[in-house]
Amino acid sequence: MAPESIDGIEEQALKAIEGADTEEKLQDIKTEYLGRKGKITLFLRNIPSLPPEEKPVAGKKANLLKNRLEQEISDKIQAIEEAVSARPADIDVTLPGRKPKTGTLHPITKIQKEICSIFFKLGFQIAEGPEIEADWYNFEALNIPKHHPARDMQDTFYISDSVVLRTHTSPIQIRYMEKHEPPISIIAPGKVYRCDSDITHTPMFHQIEGLLVDKNISFGDLKGILESFIHNLFDKQTSLRFRPSFFPFTEPSAEVDIKCVMCRGAGCRVCSNTGWLEVLGSGMVHPAVFENVGYDTSVYSGFAFGMGVERLAMLKYGIDDLRKFYENDYRFLEQF
Ligand code: PHE
Repeated sequence: MAPESIDGIEEQALKAIEGADTEEKLQDIKTEYLGRKGKITLFLRNIPSLPPEEKPVAGKKANLLKNRLEQEISDKIQAIEEAVSARPADIDVTLPGRKPKTGTLHPITKIQKEICSIFFKLGFQIAEGPEIEADWYNFEALNIPKHHPARDMQDTFYISDSVVLRTHTSPIQIRYMEKHEPPISIIAPGKVYRCDSDITHTPMFHQIEGLLVDKNISFGDLKGILESFIHNLFDKQTSLRFRPSFFPFTEPSAEVDIKCVMCRGAGCRVCSNTGWLEVLGSGMVHPAVFENVGYDTSVYSGFAFGMGVERLAMLKYGIDDLRKFYENDYRFLEQF
C-alpha cells in the first residue's frame, strides 16, 4: 500500500477532529493517527526509505503535524469536559414545584385585627398610645392611688420615678378623652408590660381597650356591646356572665366570663372545671376619671373594658400554651 502524503493525512486528521463531539471519538482519532500503528507513526517509520533529498522535509513536517494533532485533540477534550460540567443538573419537570416560603400574619395580629373589625362594625374608632407612658396616664389619671399594689416594682417596669412601660391599655382612654369631646367610642389595641414571667405570664402581652362615652350611657349598653362582640368572635351559643369586681377607674366594675368554648360549660381542664372562662374586665367610667380629663359628670356617662388578646387567641384557636406565641416556630406560625 502506497504511503499517504503528509498533507493528505493532515487534512483528514483536522477534519476528523473538527467533527468529533465526544471524548471517545477524539481518543479513537488519537489512536488512528498517533497510536503505535497510527498513520503518522507509520509515515515516520517509512522515512528511511524515501529519497535522501525528501527525508529532512518529510521528517520535519511529520513531527510538526504530530505535535499539532496532540495539542488539538487534548484542547478539544478539555473543552468538552468543561461544557459538560457547566451544564445544569438534570431537572425532573414532573416533580411538583417548590413553594416559596411566604409570611403569614402572627396569630396575635390576626385575632387583634378580627376583634378590631368587629368593634369597627359596631361604630368604634381605632385609637393608639405610647408603650412608654407617664405615671400620670398609666396610674394617676385612672384614679389608681399611690399605694396601689399595681404600682409596685414587682408588677411594673419603671423607666424612672415617673415613667413606666404601660401596664395596660387604659392610659389610651385618658389620652383620647383629653383630645376629644363626647360622644366617643374607641377601641385601642396594643402591647403592655408587666414584671411577670412564668408558664401563664409573659413580661409583654397584648390588650385591647374599649371606651364609649355619651349622654345616658348605662350598664345595659355595656352588656349589649360585649354580648354582641362575644357572639361575633365565638358564636351565639357563647353566653356571658358579669361578676362584680373592682377597678379604681370604673364603678361599678365587672369581670366578664364566657361559657367555656371548649366544653360548653360541662367543665374541663381549660376552665378548671368551672364551665366558665374569665375574658375581660369592664365597668362604668369612674367620675374621678372624667374629672381628670375635664368631662362634665352631670352630663356624660360611659363604659370601658379591657381584654387580654393572648387569652382570647388561645381560646379561639385552641392553643394550650402561651409560650407558643413567642417561640417563633414556623410549624406553629404557618397554621394561621
Ligand atoms: N385595665 C384593666 C386591666 O388591665 C382592664 C380594664 C379596662 C378594666 C377597662 C375595666 C375597664 O386589668
